[in-house]
Amino acid sequence: MDVVDPLPGLRGEARAHHVATMFARVSRRYDLLNTVMTGGMHHRWRRQAALLGTRDLSGVALDVATGTGDLAIALARRPGMRQVVGLDFVPEMLHLARQKVLRRDSSKAIGFLRGDALALPFPDNAFACATCCFGLRNMEDVSKALAEMVRVVNHGGRVVILEIVPGESKGLFPWLLNLYFRRVVPVLGRVLAGEREAYTYLPRSVDAFPLAGELVHIMEEAGLRNVSYRSVGMGLVAIHVGEKA
Ligand SMILES: C[S@@+](CC[C@H](N)C(=O)[O-])C[C@H]1O[C@@H](n2cnc3c(N)ncnc32)[C@H](O)[C@@H]1O
Repeated sequence: MDVVDPLPGLRGEARAHHVATMFARVSRRYDLLNTVMTGGMHHRWRRQAALLGTRDLSGVALDVATGTGDLAIALARRPGMRQVVGLDFVPEMLHLARQKVLRRDSSKAIGFLRGDALALPFPDNAFACATCCFGLRNMEDVSKALAEMVRVVNHGGRVVILEIVPGESKGLFPWLLNLYFRRVVPVLGRVLAGEREAYTYLPRSVDAFPLAGELVHIMEEAGLRNVSYRSVGMGLVAIHVGEKA
């Protein structure tokens, strides 16, 4: 199948700038849209991702493309994680993440930092795990982003990707789900966030993303072993986990 570029003609810095301004525009309504679009299920998926990323590990966790910080907060709730760092390149998102942490009583340190997922500002082997939720799909170079996550994770540490993946199931229900995603979600984005572009881009960015099985190979090529995934959200979303060799 031919993959259609979700942002045709935009490359390098121009593309990153376009993506960043789009997320800055939706930042204030981002959490609301996530909850409406997923019927609140995204919280459960994040908890699952945090569990898979941290089970039996201790140290510091990194959440890449953290947005408003929900997965960073879920990671901080896991035993063994003494500190969490959330990184994103949109200051508006980071501001909301910091406010959220202040509103919640967290005994653990959660710090938010502005930075680029394609050039993480951390030394090698610094984290017990690195996660990325709904972020990888927006990056121009998925392999590079994964290689950066692998680089900064300890040997034996984990990389977890929670992402919307292209649907592979056939039948009436997947068809209806697909219709909802392509037709209803852009309308929700326009009505609830006043933002049509971001929520029209969303299904297009999923079409351009690898199938769940393909992502396994891409993660292995990035230096991970024992890569596996589980489907959630009726097959629309996958949680991939791999270990740094
Ligand atoms: C769909 S939001 C996901 C936010 C959050 N992880 C969540 O679970 O809701 C995508 C986020 O990725 C961030 N992002 C995209 N490309 C990035 C990059 N190259 N470096 C850092 N952040 C990036 C955007 O700023 C945005 O906050």
